[in-house]
Amino acid sequence: MTQLHIDAQRLWADLMALAEHTEPNTPGWTRRFPSVAYQQGRQWLRAQMEAEGLVTRLDAVGNLFGRREGRADLLPIHAGSHTDTVMGGGRFDGALGTLGALEAARAIREAGIQLRHPLVVADYLSEEATDYAIACMGSLAMCTDHFKPAWLERSVNGVTLRQAIIDMGGQPDRLGQPVVKPGAIAASLELHIEQGPVLEARGVKLAAVSGIVGIQRALFELKGKANHAGATPMDLRKDALTAAARMICAIEDIARAHPGTVGTVGKVEVTPNQGNVIAGQVTIMAEMRSLDMAEVDGMWAEFRTLADAACASRGVTLQTFNETRMDAVIPPAWLHALVLDVCRRHEPATLAIPSGAGHDTNYLALVAPAAMIFVPSIDGRSHAPEEYTELADLARGVQALAEAIVAVDQNC
Ligand code: GLV
Ligand code: MN
Ligand code: MN
Repeated sequence: MTQLHIDAQRLWADLMALAEHTEPNTPGWTRRFPSVAYQQGRQWLRAQMEAEGLVTRLDAVGNLFGRREGRADLLPIHAGSHTDTVMGGGRFDGALGTLGALEAARAIREAGIQLRHPLVVADYLSEEATDYAIACMGSLAMCTDHFKPAWLERSVNGVTLRQAIIDMGGQPDRLGQPVVKPGAIAASLELHIEQGPVLEARGVKLAAVSGIVGIQRALFELKGKANHAGATPMDLRKDALTAAARMICAIEDIARAHPGTVGTVGKVEVTPNQGNVIAGQVTIMAEMRSLDMAEVDGMWAEFRTLADAACASRGVTLQTFNETRMDAVIPPAWLHALVLDVCRRHEPATLAIPSGAGHDTNYLALVAPAAMIFVPSIDGRSHAPEEYTELADLARGVQALAEAIVAVDQNC
């Protein structure tokens, strides 16, 4: 096989250049949808794609694609991830998958390989769960009909989701229908940091992802009555915060009762948030995850029943917004075997491990054969500024990605 050479220093320079685009006065590295830093980072990325000779475009939701045509009239191979971050995130979650795909495209061209299929380097929009509560929004809108026009009206910091998508270059009023139909992509590959401790603990440098958890998530708005904390007797109050507290504990209890699953409330907003005032309104973002969707569905139904009871018994009303259900994914056997085979060229001990994080691949898998490659995360840290992977490990992942693209090109 023709040798593919990954330029590790060029990959590192790209990762650090993207990292320079970070929101002012925030911890770590922060590029949240739809911030100016995120927009500028993507403008920089688009210029790098064009410098590599890729033809760029944005789709209706604002996914950014850089495409090189193939030798034959075939469906495209997609390789990519995301360039948004959580608040106070790191430099590698998502960025490795997108910039690694760009580096793979360069290495393939420099090796003189002309793929049969078109190659699309993808930067899917807004992968992280923002305060709009929609994770993997770009791949969701691209690959499913789940996108609800009502979501466009929700405001965060005074900005509606409609305006936020426009700010990112999308056309929100065209959303609702999948942008891409099943069967329109030959295969999708995503390289990512593991974001967990398994590879490091085992001393192994690569993993072929064996499955990705599914996630159910929603915003819950609880409305009670703000009133004096001293003068309102316990049986005459409508305390939205105690109802929310019951819901938060219910999530924990239910997930603990189902080993292998997780449940989290990571965001709470309390109004008026005063020490001597009963909370009149609370919004929480709740999620549950498992590799088994039937288990997620059962746990979520149990949670909803407990939530209704916690609110009703306090005279608190409960409304649900922006609910999403992302299916768990198992890669097709042939593509998983192909990725394992390529990874074993560079790490004979390559593991097959599941992902507890959600990824754009969850939605890409609905329209294409889709698989992921992991590289180690030092100390298993991610979604934190401490997130780190040695350059040699990053480059090994990109090498495997580039070779997997070539192998897919030859095999399908
Ligand atoms: C994405 O990072 C997620 O798993 O929430
Ligand atoms: Mn990610
Ligand atoms: Mn993430």
